[in-house]
Amino acid sequence: MGSSSTFHGSFRVAGREAARTRTISVTSGKGGVGKTSLVANMALNLGREGQRVLILDGDLGMANVDIMFGARPEKTIFDVVSGEADVRGILIDVAPNVTLIPGGSGVFGLRNLSAFEKRALLDQVSSLGEGFDLMIVDTAPGIDDNVLYLNAAVQEINVVVTPDPASVADSYALIKVMHQRHRENRFSVICNQVRDEAEGVGLFSRLNDVAGRFLNVGLDYRGSVPMDLNLRQATRNQQLVLRASPETAAATAIRRIAQKFRAHAGSDGAKGGLQFFWERMTGVA
Ligand SMILES: Nc1ncnc2c1ncn2[C@@H]1O[C@H](COP(=O)(O)OP(=O)(O)O)[C@@H](O)[C@H]1O
Ligand SMILES: [Mg+2]
Repeated sequence: MGSSSTFHGSFRVAGREAARTRTISVTSGKGGVGKTSLVANMALNLGREGQRVLILDGDLGMANVDIMFGARPEKTIFDVVSGEADVRGILIDVAPNVTLIPGGSGVFGLRNLSAFEKRALLDQVSSLGEGFDLMIVDTAPGIDDNVLYLNAAVQEINVVVTPDPASVADSYALIKVMHQRHRENRFSVICNQVRDEAEGVGLFSRLNDVAGRFLNVGLDYRGSVPMDLNLRQATRNQQLVLRASPETAAATAIRRIAQKFRAHAGSDGAKGGLQFFWERMTGVA
């Protein structure tokens, strides 16, 4: 798949200045919980419905966003920093209304850039304007700095948790560190690979109880996605379950959750906007 062809510029519609891009992360304490599957399928769904979605791939994991969409990025944000590419040159249109920024290892080092490099990067990304409704950041798992900074830079942090006790413990650890080091008080939770909705709600309640009791942090339930072999099979075929088997339980659940991320004009809170995101990532804001 080639490079960008759609219009990525800042966006004005009939005298109305576009709202700032809503920014969310999909993150987890433990790996392999389904972040990338959720990001790619939700983006596909929202794009189909006319939302302009930007995905920032902040993980170098096994099943990357690009692979799920069958795209092969040649350049990453790192090439923008080093001056080898401009930002439009690294964007890839992966589905209707869905654009990918290959981040790779590049997003990890943004805070260590020279002042000159930071300025150059910020100039580049500001040329994108706020021409997207939503940016979804797919992070690596765990509590490394790169994960923490990506989460601290978005408006809404979505923690993906599964019934696996290790996932529950690691989710709590991530929430705790984000709270203590980055003063985050609000997290959304998506329960994945559950037996049924009841198990998901129970899982959320347990996490919410401990987060409330020990950290005084409030969690919001975003929904549950069942364990569904159709999703696993789709991944194995480098496919998206929303395309391969759209009527399955997992696909239906993911569509329902995606609807909660439809950007609402004017709903941007304190941390909205792509500009703010990149300023945070480079340590400028
Ligand atoms: N709801 C689900 N049902 C069945 N398999 C799932 C589900 N969610 C994720 N998986 C599988 O788990 C594995 C890890 O998913 P992935 O999205 O790559 O996780 P992460 O990005 O968190 O590492 C993949 O093989 C994927 O197909
Ligand atoms: Mg992943």
